[in-house]
Amino acid sequence: MVKELSRIARGVRASTTMAIDSLYKQMKAEGQDVIGFAAGEPDFNTPDHIKEAAYQAIRDNFTRYTPASGMVELKQAACDRMKADCGVDYTPAQVVIASGAKHMVYLALRALVNPGDEVILPTPAWVSYYELIRIVGGIPVMLPASEEEDFKITPEKLEQAITTQTKAIILNNPSNPTGMVYDAGQLQALADVCVRHDLYIIADEIYYGLLYDGKTFTSIASLGEEVKRRTILVNGVSKSYAMTGWRIGYAMAEPEIAKLMADYVSHSTGSPCSISQRAAMAGLTASQEEVHTMREAFQARRDYMVERMNRIPGVSCIRPEGAFYVMMNIQKLIGRTLGGITIRDDNDFATAFLKQGLVAVVPGEGFGAPGFVRWSYATSMENIKEGLDRLDRFLAN
Ligand SMILES: Cc1ncc(COP(=O)(O)O)c(C=O)c1O
Repeated sequence: MVKELSRIARGVRASTTMAIDSLYKQMKAEGQDVIGFAAGEPDFNTPDHIKEAAYQAIRDNFTRYTPASGMVELKQAACDRMKADCGVDYTPAQVVIASGAKHMVYLALRALVNPGDEVILPTPAWVSYYELIRIVGGIPVMLPASEEEDFKITPEKLEQAITTQTKAIILNNPSNPTGMVYDAGQLQALADVCVRHDLYIIADEIYYGLLYDGKTFTSIASLGEEVKRRTILVNGVSKSYAMTGWRIGYAMAEPEIAKLMADYVSHSTGSPCSISQRAAMAGLTASQEEVHTMREAFQARRDYMVERMNRIPGVSCIRPEGAFYVMMNIQKLIGRTLGGITIRDDNDFATAFLKQGLVAVVPGEGFGAPGFVRWSYATSMENIKEGLDRLDRFLAN
């Protein structure tokens, strides 16, 4: 007899996207000509000046622990970048650096949530939020927004979801998986509700550098002191600088919240990788030219994907304004038989499309978006063209 394992740990659901992902990897390993559109990371290489800073850190023997919540110089660099790009003022004492934005969301929830507190989660939402809320003992309260609503919640909807138990909301802008962006007016309306009901806002703005059509980004923390002091701003270098593997994220908040997060990190992971911190500093402080170049490439890919998808009978999508994802509506395909599989839902579609069409996309169900699949356009234009050709052929069957 062995003792029972942690109920909290056993309650964590494996990512629903895993099934398709493992099938994709297996098919690839078998040498099949599959194309993946499931990745949530830029296909670009980390820019050379960032890599050079990491080589230099190693040559300098900068290989020891740093302060647990990150180097002060990097905190300052993050503050300067946020000031320049988003017009928000923070000091290093308000910053925590840790191993990726995902870790920052976890630390933010740790700092805010007591068991039984409700955390509002607008959906479609990134798969990890729901589990992270549960891991810290919170209760996720899903707040769905439909495609007709551009996948964005309204202040009225938010107001209705608030109870006496509500502690916080997670607001991801621009959104993974929808690519939608709340503009300044929409954000202000949501911020007003949060302030009126004294809710904390975990603002995951990791895609803030990827907005298209010349649109400018508004950080929710820039909308006044009342909202700023309730906000934990989450950001990082993964997406804007093509640095997903380096594992550096940062959060900014009121000093007492930042301290709680820093204390927690000091006893769990300890300081983030010293070399990655030096590399992240180079990303944040040097010219942002390569960020712009990557953004232009993403925009051209988005334009192609959206235009092409909407010309293929049976599927459609709305035009995302940021990040690098498109949500394809497959509701008209429900009930059809494709590649020998009867399509009952988005999981069936994704399985059939991978097995018979040789293209991997992510079923929407895991994001709280049944009837949709997510395509990432963080892949080459050549792959995008081929993937859509395959979709065309697959649906013509
Ligand atoms: C909305 C969102 N937040 C956070 C992350 C994780 O970022 P990081 O690599 O910095 O942990 C992702 C990655 O897919 C994401 O989509």
